[in-house]
Amino acid sequence: MKKHVVLYKKLSPALMARLQEQCEVTLIESLDADGLMQLRDALPRAHGLLGASLKLDAALLDLAPQLQAIASVSVGVDNYDIDYLTRRKVVLTNTPDVLTETTADTGFALILAAARRVVELANMVRNGQWNRNIGPAHFGTDVHGKTLGIIGMGRIGEALAQRGHFGFGMPVLYHSQSRKPAVEERFDAQYRSLEDLLKQADFICLTLPLTAQTEGLIGAEQFALMRPETIFINISRGKVIDEAALIDALRNKQIRAAGLDVFEREPLDQASPLLQLDNVVATPHMGSATHETREAMARCAVENLMAALKGEKPANLVNPSVWRS
Ligand code: DGY
Repeated sequence: MKKHVVLYKKLSPALMARLQEQCEVTLIESLDADGLMQLRDALPRAHGLLGASLKLDAALLDLAPQLQAIASVSVGVDNYDIDYLTRRKVVLTNTPDVLTETTADTGFALILAAARRVVELANMVRNGQWNRNIGPAHFGTDVHGKTLGIIGMGRIGEALAQRGHFGFGMPVLYHSQSRKPAVEERFDAQYRSLEDLLKQADFICLTLPLTAQTEGLIGAEQFALMRPETIFINISRGKVIDEAALIDALRNKQIRAAGLDVFEREPLDQASPLLQLDNVVATPHMGSATHETREAMARCAVENLMAALKGEKPANLVNPSVWRS
């Protein structure tokens, strides 16, 4: 008998066909109130789940007693209670690697946009306010040659370091849980304590996952260590920072600007003070959002799920102890 998979993210026709060869599939088209009701109705029969951008907590997953595997179409796994899944012996997989370069591109787009005031000045042109050659009031700041500080030297951090070092001649500083000798050698990167990095880097980029340890890592105390020239970039998760403290730091010119792809609450509220500030570039959690990369992530998730449901070890296992036990 075919295993039953509940999809809460639409797949391309090719991937849908592939999944349907092996599984019976229920598609939840959208995660609005109706969709969530449909999801709850489908969970009791589900052996597998595939999707993204939904907090799957114990209250919801208790409705799925037959559940064997969840394939997240994301690298971040902060929407899942890993301990709970492991206790229940439910396999969790994610989609690392395939989104690394695209997400680093987004990080660099934010660096350039924030430093060169791209969005603000493009809007000035669009709004018919470009009346004469721009002067110092509209100048940005250089990116090339400035110091790039990366917090969280995983795959995406490394891809940012590569862009900064080889593309823009930037000295690279980094802070992470452990030293990375290969990264230090390849990009001439230097390890710093968090405090030193915050004091020394011109661009501070967060690329680390949201965990109990990283939640609220950057707050008022940390923003106070930065310099008025600092440009702050977040492509990790909104909850790694204290957003109110960031707003204060921007308003008080404690830092120069911010490029933000992630927020404490998403979608970002239109009334957020961040949107009142000219020195903020805000994007809609689009780190991996290109046609090619989103298709590659979906393919990776389908492969992970099909393997897990066949009893084969998936390539991207988040909770390997489930497999061994
Ligand atoms: C990821 O893959 O974790 C991206 O941030 C999208 O959620």
